[in-house]
Amino acid sequence: MCGIVGYIGTKQAAPIILDGLSRLEYRGYDSAGMAVFDGKKIDIQKSAGRLKILENLTRGGESMPGVCGIGHTRWATHGAPSDANAHPHFNKAETIAVVHNGIIENYLQLRKKLTGKGYQFVSETDTEVLAHLLDYYYRGNPLETVTKVLHRVEGSYALGIMFADCPDQIFAARKDSPLIVGENEDGCFIASDVPAILKYTRKVYYVDNHEVVRLRADHMHFYTVDEEEIEKEAVTIDWDANAAEKAGYEHFMLKEMYEQPKTISDTLTPRVKGKDVVIEELNMTDDELREIKKLHIVACGSAYHAGMTGKYVLEGLARIPVEVDLASEFRYRDPILEEGAMVIVISQSGETADTLAALREAKSRGFRVLGIVNVVGSSIAREADNVMYTWAGPEIAVATTKAYSAQLIALYLLAMKLGKARGKISDKLFASLLTDLRRLPDQIELLLNNKLRIQKFANRYIGAKDIFFIGRGIDYAISLEGSLKLKEISYIHSEAYAAGELKHGTISLIEEGTLVAAVSTQPDLYAKTISNMVEVKARGAFVLAVTCEGNKEIEKAADYVIYIPETNPYFANSLAIIPLQLFGYYVAVGKGCDVDKPRNLAKSVTVE
Ligand code: M6R
Repeated sequence: MCGIVGYIGTKQAAPIILDGLSRLEYRGYDSAGMAVFDGKKIDIQKSAGRLKILENLTRGGESMPGVCGIGHTRWATHGAPSDANAHPHFNKAETIAVVHNGIIENYLQLRKKLTGKGYQFVSETDTEVLAHLLDYYYRGNPLETVTKVLHRVEGSYALGIMFADCPDQIFAARKDSPLIVGENEDGCFIASDVPAILKYTRKVYYVDNHEVVRLRADHMHFYTVDEEEIEKEAVTIDWDANAAEKAGYEHFMLKEMYEQPKTISDTLTPRVKGKDVVIEELNMTDDELREIKKLHIVACGSAYHAGMTGKYVLEGLARIPVEVDLASEFRYRDPILEEGAMVIVISQSGETADTLAALREAKSRGFRVLGIVNVVGSSIAREADNVMYTWAGPEIAVATTKAYSAQLIALYLLAMKLGKARGKISDKLFASLLTDLRRLPDQIELLLNNKLRIQKFANRYIGAKDIFFIGRGIDYAISLEGSLKLKEISYIHSEAYAAGELKHGTISLIEEGTLVAAVSTQPDLYAKTISNMVEVKARGAFVLAVTCEGNKEIEKAADYVIYIPETNPYFANSLAIIPLQLFGYYVAVGKGCDVDKPRNLAKSVTVE
């Protein structure tokens, strides 16, 4: 959460910083600000609200001259979204400015200590202590001051810092919050994420924990927190710069839904060799795969929902017991990991604080961790023992669609690989699973082309108070994701239930006309789910069914049916989720919601 950008070079800094921040708004968007050295002093402009306000305030950055600056877009943790709490923060003399992503955990102690020394605070943020602490230690050597401060703070940070009396340099530092630096012939950049600077450079360096960077217009130097200079290797980013643009779509979310066929092919194709699935990144022999006794899948949000589907598929195809945990629970519940277990963490951003902590917990106990990650070079990707990348490209909309779909594919491939190595899948079944996997992109395309019908249906529910999703087995996992998509962007209350569980209490919420979306893609469970549909219908619900072509029986119990093409039941999630994503999207659009940036959320949740 929170995005930081910095620039020092030969061009005007403010427009570059604003442009970078606009690509990081997905990380937080309740206030924004910039600090630029204008030739004499550091000028700060900041405001509560969207980045647009800061853009207007500074006329697109034009009113802030200077070639050196830092900027920030905020997702509030300490203190409400207000002008005063917006970053950057100053010391009293307004000679040191700081932007920060993360949480300073010992800020109350530091604040007390600094207050005792006469420092006055103007914000409620944890970040302001950094500005005053830098001031407290500053004796003319900025690098020494930054490292001294870093030795005294606890918590997580990605920082951009500037000193008025050293306007030819800016500083960056990192611990547990993402940070990259980059360079081109015009200057050097700081950013929380690649899209912020992709327009300017593809040559970036991933800053590691406890590292400090001194950036000048024409070069940068890396240091440890003990001021020892270190060498780092640049990475060339090969993303298509257009991938982070809307390309004519009304929203990133719609564009990303439409990218799902390609995402699936990109995640699948490199791992299918002839008639086999080859996952080189696993770096495990078939003997080692056979020795795995149990899998623990750990993730948050939609990645957790992908993990839920993964459980059904892995248990079904590879016959390995799988436990799925929310990362925020796993990290504190002292989980029992027995010999032979392997941990799989799933994350689009690769920066989710709880998932990263769960990974560290598992590694500290000596367990192998496989990361299923989208962002190359992210913290989880770097710390996991093995990484299976989901090649979804940059995902900008806060509500995930294509990255979730790619996670499913990675899990299917893993299940097939394990199932085959363990002798649980016959050659015939394996071949037919591969055929079905390869058909998914075209089938998704078909479903996306049916969007008008779903849009019309969605328009009827713009005023809904509650919407329920039900399903059994894999369909329950799909329901969880369908419900999350709807509620996070449309603000309509929604719950997902295992279809058989609703009658144990929640069915009392069903009223005349309440929409219940019943997902029924598992032929073995058709009859059971129909019974649950009938139960809610008898209490006044309007039942929308999402089922497979050919399941005509369902029309007797449903009021409205969306059919998905035929596939292996293990892969049905990849198809059934498409109409549910479209439904959530069109309800939110119909309500006039800010689809790509829903209230209170951020794309990358780097606080616990
Ligand atoms: O980057 P991650 O996959 O680790 O993020 C996990 C969740 O924060 C994320 O899936 C979240 O639930 C999305 N808003 C869902 O659309």
